[in-house]
Amino acid sequence: MLKNKTIVLGVSGGIAAYKAADLASKLAQAGANVRVVMTWEATELVKPLTFQALTGNPVVTGMFEPAPLSAITHVSLADEADIVVIVPATANIIAKIAAGIADDILTCTVLATTAPIVLSPAMHNNMYVNPVTQENIARLKKRGFTIIPAVHGRLASGSIGYGRLPEITEIMGTIQQTLGKNGDLAGKRIVVTAGGTQEVIDPVRYIGNRSSGKMGYALAEAARDRGSAVTLITTPTALGIPAGMETVKVQSAIEMKDAVVKATAKTDALIMAAAVADYMPETASAQKIKKGAGGLTLELVKTPDILSEIKGKFLKIGFAAETQDLIANAQKKLTAKSLDMIVANDVSAKDSVFGSDNNKITIIKKDGKPQALPLMSKREAADKILDNVVKLLK
Ligand code: CTP
Repeated sequence: MLKNKTIVLGVSGGIAAYKAADLASKLAQAGANVRVVMTWEATELVKPLTFQALTGNPVVTGMFEPAPLSAITHVSLADEADIVVIVPATANIIAKIAAGIADDILTCTVLATTAPIVLSPAMHNNMYVNPVTQENIARLKKRGFTIIPAVHGRLASGSIGYGRLPEITEIMGTIQQTLGKNGDLAGKRIVVTAGGTQEVIDPVRYIGNRSSGKMGYALAEAARDRGSAVTLITTPTALGIPAGMETVKVQSAIEMKDAVVKATAKTDALIMAAAVADYMPETASAQKIKKGAGGLTLELVKTPDILSEIKGKFLKIGFAAETQDLIANAQKKLTAKSLDMIVANDVSAKDSVFGSDNNKITIIKKDGKPQALPLMSKREAADKILDNVVKLLK
């Protein structure tokens, strides 16, 4: 997604400028051509050499700097950019852009580009909440700029308030979403479930499973990056909540079912990547169960089968986690649950076990023959699944 994209990364003079170095590094690692443009104030905080080393590109620090670049650097950068991202965006740069001022290389580039522009404001709380800053932000939003809201937390001054730069993963997610806005899933809505459900035994214990949620999160992010509106219904996982989508947090199979029913009232596809428990304790004890002299017997009852019970005119896509007779068992589930497609997953395979970043899947469509794919990253597998979703939605 970021591969070979030209990202003009504007850095203005806020203390969070050092975090822009991490962003530049991550974007370059993802294969993007990162062209850093710094204001004079930013160069007082972080040396251009840092960005040059991280991106492998010369850093532009002034209208005519560095000298070997053409005298019309701002126009060439503006034309070259697939996206312009300003991290951090100070109150001053936001005000200048809102007013159409172009008195340095960064504001000139912003004025001259037709590429989408993302701003990530970071500043002292009082400057951020100041009505003039908020008015400027509102104006820019109205003009189609994407603004990543600053978050609450400890600020450089030591005080606590709004004005912190969000996590870099959040900014990366927004960049990918913005770049993919006109992708092949633009205008569609997709609901994805992820993670393993937790069925409560008592206030400190639950029955869980080994699902990491990685496949579902990869699907949600891939759908977002192809232009879809995404609702991610997730159980507790160790993964960060992805940017640019609606997320619903659930714990049990019953909670997941309620969330799925609500989210699919308006959707084009439901992808059930979650590992839903088949059984739950008949009753959850209100108090912690104390250790007795003998053993403990738990009475388990069936959970609702969400995929089988869900009704509506949207694509239904399931996963089949199997340890034997992969294709036959998956095909049975495809029919029994009236699915449009099932993704079969051999969970006994060493190279694609729970928690891994890779997966080896076989895609089976209602009327098609099984499409076995080699081992690949979960993100790549997610895109292969979505290629089929795109075809089915046509
Ligand atoms: N699923 C569901 N509700 C359940 C159980 C599973 O919606 N109560 C969904 C899963 O999210 C998955 C598909 O059904 O997309 C198949 O799940 P899987 O656990 O492989 O199959 P089960 O139907 O539970 O059958 P079994 O565990 O006997 O293999």
